[in-house]
Parts: sequence; C-alpha cells; structure tokens
Amino acid sequence: MTLSDGTCVLPQHIGIIMDGNGRWAKKRGMPRKLGHREGAAVFKRITDICNEIGIKYLTFYAFSTENRKRPEDEKNALMDLFDKYLTDVWEQVDKNVKLVFLGDKSYFSPSLREKMIRIEDESRSHIGMTLMIAMNYGGRDDIIYAAKKTAELVSSGYMKTEEITEDTFSDMLYTAGAPDVDLMIRTGGEYRLSNFLIWQCAYAEFYFTDVLWPDFDKAELDKALDSFASRKRRFGGV
Ligand code: FPP
Repeated sequence: MTLSDGTCVLPQHIGIIMDGNGRWAKKRGMPRKLGHREGAAVFKRITDICNEIGIKYLTFYAFSTENRKRPEDEKNALMDLFDKYLTDVWEQVDKNVKLVFLGDKSYFSPSLREKMIRIEDESRSHIGMTLMIAMNYGGRDDIIYAAKKTAELVSSGYMKTEEITEDTFSDMLYTAGAPDVDLMIRTGGEYRLSNFLIWQCAYAEFYFTDVLWPDFDKAELDKALDSFASRKRRFGGV
C-alpha cells in the first residue's frame, strides 16, 4: 500500500532469496543438506506469517538454473525436500492460497512435475495470497521464454509488433498477472540479485541482511518490513 506522499506501508509483493543454508549447517558441523532442511521449515513459517499479515504476493527463490551445477547428493536432497514440503504446504497452508511455480518444470522428475502441475491446477481459482516458488528458474531464462512466446504470437498474426508494451510483455513472463516486486529480501550477507526476477525488480526496494536463512524469523521479517515502510518510493519521479 502506498500513501499519497509516496510512503509505503505494506509491500504488495515480496521476493525472498533464502541464502545461507549451507553456512548455517557448516557452522554446526552438519552436512549442507541439513541446512536446507532447516531452511525449508523456515520457508513454511515465513509463508504462514506473510499470509496472516496480508501480503498478497510472495515469491521464493528455491532453486535457480545455476543451482543445477551443485553436487548430485545436494541436488537430490533438495528434490526430496521440495517433494515433502510441497505436499506439506499444500495440505496445511490456508486453502485460499494460490500456488504458482516459476521456471522450467521439465527438469524435475515426472512425479514432482505432476505434483507441481496438480497443485497449480487445484489452486488456480483461489483468491488469497499468491505464493510463487521459483524452481529451476533464472531471470534471463524468464525473459527469453517471454520473448519467444511474444515472437510466436507476432509471427502467427495473433499480436501486432505495436502491441508489445511493458504490460503485454510482463504478461508473457512466468509471473504473468502478478505485480512487480515491491520488496526483495536477501539473507546470508550477499548483496546481489543472482538472476532472480530481474525484470520484475525494476523498481523494487532491496533489503539485505547477514542473518542466515535458517535463522530468519518473524522478528527479522518485521525489520525488513519496517525498513520498507521507511522508504520513499518515487518510481523515477521527484
Ligand atoms: C541457498 O543457500 C539456498 C538454496 C540453494 C536452496 C533453498 C531451498 C530451500 C530452503 C528449500 C525450500 C523448500 C521449498 C519447498 C520451497 P546456500 O546453499 O547457497 O547457502 P550458502 O551460501 O551458505 O552455501
């Protein structure tokens, strides 16, 4: 919500880069996959809190196209977590939540892919918070995919070149129908976007924290929201 003086109270769309699971585990002498397991539990808790406080769109970076380069056993552990948590989230989350997966699903096993498609289909008509989970997602990939779809529509005569605008192009992205990101949170002490929602973050406010993702809790989320509420957003104006 934006007040008339440009002050924002609650972001409509929050993006979250859940970084620091591996370091969290290493500090405790545990394998990295246990850091991801703790991170998945935090993902669920933060989702519930955002839903309760009235966030309309929440997008997590769960697995990037670059994460495919990680060792097989870490990737397998992540795939097991996705499988388990997608079922948990789907069963426990407020039944009004709409789930959308961003990215190329063809990378995943047939059973995980089917689960993702079923959850999307069954929640399509839900009118509460939209929870988007980026899995096998890359921002550049997203833009190329949208460009190809646009080119196909133009070459087949369904769209005119003059009709390509920021709005129509946004509707070709994986996040079609969702507003741009208002607040992007990154944990784990790195100050970069790492190819996440690069188009959608054109006017996002950024919040970086050294807190490792498994330690991120309601108090930390409140700090991010307070920081956001203190910013004046001018969107290029004065
Ligand atoms: C980055 O930390 C985190 C990831 C690559 C995976 C995040 C995934 C989850 C928390 C599971 C979420 C589950 C669902 C169902 C969405 P890192 O491994 O890069 O940490 P490091 O920088 O300390 O090594």
